[in-house]
This record gives sequence, C-alpha cells and structure tokens, in this order.
Amino acid sequence: MASALLWLALAVPAFAAPTSSNTGTGQNAISRISLGPRPYWLVDHLEDGPLKSKLASCSEKHMRRTDFSIGHRGGGILEFPEETRESIMAGTRMGAGIQECDVTFTKDKQLICRHDQCDLHTTTNVVTIPELNAKCTTPFKPAANGAKASAKCCTSDFTLAEIKTLCSKMDGSNTAALTPADYIKGTPVFRTDLYSTTTCSAVLTLKEYIKLVDGLGLKFTPELKTPVVPMPFPAGSDYTQAKYAQQMIDEFKTAGIKPDRVFIQSFLYDDLLYWLKAEPKFAKQAIFLDESADTTPLSASVANLTQYAAAGVKIMGPPLPYLVTVKDGKIVPSEYAIEAKRLGLKIITWSLDRSGFLGDGSHGGYYYGSIANVTNHESDVYKLLHVLAQDVGVQGVFSDWSATVTYYANCFGLF
Ligand SMILES: *[C@@H]1O[C@H](CO)[C@@H](O)[C@H](O)[C@H]1NC(C)=O
Ligand SMILES: *[C@@H]1O[C@H](CO)[C@@H](O)[C@H](O)[C@H]1NC(C)=O
Repeated sequence: MASALLWLALAVPAFAAPTSSNTGTGQNAISRISLGPRPYWLVDHLEDGPLKSKLASCSEKHMRRTDFSIGHRGGGILEFPEETRESIMAGTRMGAGIQECDVTFTKDKQLICRHDQCDLHTTTNVVTIPELNAKCTTPFKPAANGAKASAKCCTSDFTLAEIKTLCSKMDGSNTAALTPADYIKGTPVFRTDLYSTTTCSAVLTLKEYIKLVDGLGLKFTPELKTPVVPMPFPAGSDYTQAKYAQQMIDEFKTAGIKPDRVFIQSFLYDDLLYWLKAEPKFAKQAIFLDESADTTPLSASVANLTQYAAAGVKIMGPPLPYLVTVKDGKIVPSEYAIEAKRLGLKIITWSLDRSGFLGDGSHGGYYYGSIANVTNHESDVYKLLHVLAQDVGVQGVFSDWSATVTYYANCFGLF
C-alpha cells in the first residue's frame, strides 16, 4: 500500500498538463516515445567504425521527443496513409517534435491536408465511388490498347463535405488496371497496406490537424502547396494566391497558436515575400523550399542564396542531395551547404526513409543522387544523416519514419 501511494505521489506531476506556452494545450501529450525495431536494425547492419560504435552505445537509452525529427506527412508513412491522424500518431509515438500538414484547398475554399492538390486518385478511394469519380478533373480511364490507366482527381474538384466521405490509402496506383478497384492497388512493396485496407482514415482539415498537433504539445510545419489550378480560383473570383497564403496563417491565429511554434513552408518564392511583408512574426521561421537544382545546375541555386538571405529568408529547405557530395570516397558538405552556412541561413532538409531500398542497386535514387557511388546498403541512411547533422549543421530532418531520425538525435543530444 505504502509503495502504491508513493508511486501515485511521484506519478501525478508527470500527468499534469505542461504549462509552457511552447507545448500548447498538450492535453493529449505522449510521454512514452517508442522507436520500434528499425533504428536498432539499421545500426546493427552499419559497417564497423566510430559511427556504428557510437550509435550502438545508445541502444538502451530512454528516448525523448526532439524537434530535430520532423514528421514528413505525419512521419509514419512507411505503414500508415500519409497526411492522416494515423500517420501523425505514429510519427509522434516515434518522437517527432514537429508535424507536417501539406495545405491545399477544396472547391468551397476549405483548407485540408493533402500532399498535392491533385493526388486524390492515388491517396484515396475516390475513383471507386462512381458519383465522385465523375466529378474528377479526369475521371478514371482503364488501361487499353497500350495506354496506361489514368485519372486526375483534385481537392478543388470537390466540396469539403464530399472529401470527408473518402478514405485515405497508401499513395500509389496500378496503371495496368482495368477497373477502379484495381487502380487503387499500387502500394510500393517497401510500404504496407496493413493499416489502410481495414480502417477508413478520413482526410484531415487544417483545423483538425492544428487541434490534434496542439493537443499533442508539438510544433507545426504547414506547407502551402502550389496550386495546380490557375489563381484566382475560380477565374475572376477574389481567391488569389495571397488570400490563400493568408488564410493558412489565419487558421493558426484563430486557434491561438503562437508563431514560434509554426514553421510555414512554400516552394513559391512569392509566398515567402508575401509572408515577410504581411506576417513578419510567422515569416521569422518560414522555410523556403528549394528544388531549383532538379532542372538547372546546382551552382545556379547556390548563386541565388544571396538574394534570399538579403530578402529576409532565414531557413532554406533543399532536398537531401543538394547538401552533400562525395570527396575521396567520403560524404562531405556540398557547395550549397557551405554557402548557406556562410550567409547565416539555417537549413531543414527532406526526406529520409523515402527511397525504398538503398541496397537493391538503385543506390537510393533521387534522394541519394549526389552520393550514389557510396550508397549501397539500407544502413547508409545513418552515414548521410551523420554528415547532415555534424558537418552541414542542419536544424532538422523530415522523415517518412520518424524513429530513424529520433534515434540519431537522441544519441547525439540534438533536441
Ligand atoms: C534565381 O532567382 C531568380 C529570381 O528570383 C529566378 O528567376 C531563378 O529561377 C532562380 N534560379 C534558381 C536556379 O533558383
Ligand atoms: C563519386 O561520385 C562523385 C560525383 O558525384 C565523384 O566526384 C567522386 O569521385 C566519386 N567517388 C568515388 C569513390 O567513386
């Protein structure tokens, strides 16, 4: 009895609501972070050396949540449908301190979480519902005469009420399909349908995401997705790009969220310039996502960093391969990373655990493109992360499976 009382006395403070404004209401905060087997397996299979020894030495450590670990589309998308409550809960269990919602709009101008304005045909069951399929920009067409099966369903094709009837699923499609039911079966083999075929994960609104993440006591990183339809939408209306960019901020203000808990993101430089002028408090930690070197030489992207810094941008968000290169068989910071540091720009990068198999001869594909010739095994993810954290000095890393980054950050004391 005495020991039970003592336990209670000790336990009570741990259940009290956090009081720091930085953790929001925190009423549903998760205090037990659990990483599952993946990081331990990755460390076990890493080649012998100082990095493996250090990481292995942390295997019995009590793991904590960290802002270095950013949930990409929720952070649980190797197993759970992206941008859903389920993915956010999985990433949060795995210690992500910052959670993402990709923001786009419906036909009735409601903001929702979807990675792309036009991905409903690959991320939901929309094409299997005839009356909704009929409203898609391009309804489902079966494969025929050598042409692939196709569909294009955009959030702006539907009202929020219609979108709320959909079930999210693992991103993918089967372009050999003859029926809608077959078209939605296209999950890559390194992900799983285990949790998406048996339950219906609704599409989240931005408001629901804010409430959920606030309740978990985490920080936010909403990305204003570049519209696929011409703005204003519809043509001639007053729903301009600036209005859409403002609407996203307003939902955080209405929910009473302080700007220092929000890392707004966009690929559109004009969005950054708009926020710097109209919403300086939120712009202070806005992330300018940069994929310019996908189409032009990296040196052109490096040259542009000066003007972004001068305009007041504080954080750049390039993909992983822009930040590293190979020298004498070793991964080292790229000219992009060196120049960003020189200019005092912070860096957040994307996305780990997104490449499928690193050891199947693909050398990690796009995300490892600049270090392909030293990428040969799944565990090489930690060789890349080590250079990003220690030599490039990134502030945080987006991941499709938050445990990988959380483990590293805990081991090296990055909080
Ligand atoms: C550099 O900046 C200019 C002006 O903002 C822009 O037009 C150009 O596309 C940018 N180039 C790259 C590679 O980012
Ligand atoms: C790897 O590729 C880079 C170019 O991406 C090259 O500069 C480097 O010499 C290569 N290193 C090895 C060990 O082959």
